[in-house]
Amino acid sequence: DEFNAEEKFKIVNGMSFSPEVTHIEAVKSMNTYDKMRDDDVIVSSYPRSGTHWSIALVDLVMHGGDIETVKDRHIHERSTWMDIPMAVLTGKAEMSIEGTKEQENPMVAAESVPSPRLLSTHLTYDFMPESVKQGKCKVVVILRNPKSVVTSLHVLNDVPEYYKVVPTIDQTIEATLLTDAQDQMIYGSWFNHVSKWWMNKDKLKRNIHFIFYEDMKNNMGEVIKGLAKFLNKGIPDEQIKKMAEHLQFEQMLKNPKTGKAFENLKLTDETIEFMESDSYKAAHMRKGVIDDWKTKLTASQSKRIDAFLGPRLEKIGLKFQYEQ
Ligand code: A3P
Repeated sequence: DEFNAEEKFKIVNGMSFSPEVTHIEAVKSMNTYDKMRDDDVIVSSYPRSGTHWSIALVDLVMHGGDIETVKDRHIHERSTWMDIPMAVLTGKAEMSIEGTKEQENPMVAAESVPSPRLLSTHLTYDFMPESVKQGKCKVVVILRNPKSVVTSLHVLNDVPEYYKVVPTIDQTIEATLLTDAQDQMIYGSWFNHVSKWWMNKDKLKRNIHFIFYEDMKNNMGEVIKGLAKFLNKGIPDEQIKKMAEHLQFEQMLKNPKTGKAFENLKLTDETIEFMESDSYKAAHMRKGVIDDWKTKLTASQSKRIDAFLGPRLEKIGLKFQYEQ
């Protein structure tokens, strides 16, 4: 099928992004369809923060660290999206401005997923079902330094075949990092996403756990230990070592079930086939390092980000690592 960017994407200020309105029905359904379970685990992140990496991590810990059980399941089968219908994820249905049909509502579809469910979302605290806001379920929030996030996001969006107007890196920085507006970019501003979760950490107390991308990179063993404690899983040190190795960038890339996660899905009437494909340029796995932003951002862009976000982050006591 001819790709029609105008139909598929909303143009915001001359830039083309997937429409945030896509998710309005899904977001509304969070409140009208609150069937959360006590043993649900939710992974929430701003796009390009290492979402799929952390889904692999959380899924593995939920399975007690048993690599054999998880490794042959496709990354898109390891969690259920709260705000993206599977039909959209698999290319069967287009995201629509009117919203999703009832049968495509991802939270309704998630009903058939057996417990304990691993749910994923790019939405922040404000949009969660009321029960989650009151402390039901466990929430794992993935945080990554904003310069890496915006770099990774820009590369993802820099696909002329997919966008009528490819946003420049400056436009992406403006819409994502240097704004408090929520309608410039799908999922709104980065700071809004991270600060809304961070500011509610005392309210959710034992039911919220933060993981930094940079910590996963530097010391996955400690991250696994912290997460296992949060999820009440006892995992021997020896196994934690193996898990950390299994989750390394090169290892995940080698495994077709995790290394080629994007744009390689085919939905037939009965089943979802996960196709292998190298055709998509900006996959979920790209470089996987902490400081690749240095190769893409100019000194002045970096300074503008520091000037805008520095004081805001300091005010809420959130610190990021930017260097390797
Ligand atoms: P880069 O584009 O900087 O390489 P998301 O899943 O939220 O879209 O995040 C994608 C980012 O996570 C990409 O960042 C990707 O390379 C990185 N990533 C995925 N798996 C990883 C792994 N095992 N180790 C390190 N980074 C990983």
